[in-house]
Amino acid sequence: MAHPDNLSLDQVTLCAGAKTILDNVTLTVPMTGVTLLAGRNGSGKSTFLKACLGLVRLQSGVLLLKGQPPELACRQIGYMPQGLSDTALMIPAISHVMAAMKGARWGIPLPSRARREDAERLLALTGALSFARRPLGLLSGGERQRVCLAQALTDNPKMLLLDEPLAALDHEAQHQIVSLLDTLTRDLGISILLTSHETEALGGKMSRILKLKNGSLHV
Ligand SMILES: Nc1ncnc2c1ncn2[C@@H]1O[C@H](COP(=O)(O)OP(=O)(O)OP(=O)(O)O)[C@@H](O)[C@H]1O
Ligand SMILES: [Mg+2]
Repeated sequence: MAHPDNLSLDQVTLCAGAKTILDNVTLTVPMTGVTLLAGRNGSGKSTFLKACLGLVRLQSGVLLLKGQPPELACRQIGYMPQGLSDTALMIPAISHVMAAMKGARWGIPLPSRARREDAERLLALTGALSFARRPLGLLSGGERQRVCLAQALTDNPKMLLLDEPLAALDHEAQHQIVSLLDTLTRDLGISILLTSHETEALGGKMSRILKLKNGSLHV
């Protein structure tokens, strides 16, 4: 069903190389609140998130996110990938956030001062403002996560796809990020689909769990 809050798959087959991630899966799930995409290492969680963004093509079937195909849905989605490319490591944190801004709401890019202020606001929100001027390569794993989360929040996304946002964080930092995600869903109405092996840290904040296993996907 093409409902604005749903993720819907109709006979979807998705592969990564020789591996079948989804094998003819048909499923409709609400995407309100926080949805955990769970599965073992190599089950295909990252590949599935990329398919939702249109970064990886389906072998067959139809996938709709928030009622739209991935190529259109991605315009209202903020994405935090699992890893950073080496080229990003030399770029200062604040430039990483500013580079993702499109100024799409106004049709023209925001002036650079406004972009900088907006980037600083997002870095403050994720607790990363104090290292905004440092290159990503000189930040710890947890500090980088916060910068990447700020980048995912540029341009007022309606939904966030976060690939392992709690990895590399200590317990206190995990709780801070979980509480921030909770605030984003409650106060701003942003829905979140995330992968994580840290179910304990997520506590009761999840609305549902999607389990990816051996080519099938279940709620
Ligand atoms: N471009 C690719 N070409 C070939 N195989 C790939 C490609 N991308 C991923 N794979 C394989 O597909 C499988 C799923 O990978 P994916 O990264 O989606 O798993 P994951 O569930 O995110 O794992 P993790 O929990 O370790 O992050 C793995 O076996 C991986 O080696
Ligand atoms: Mg992964």
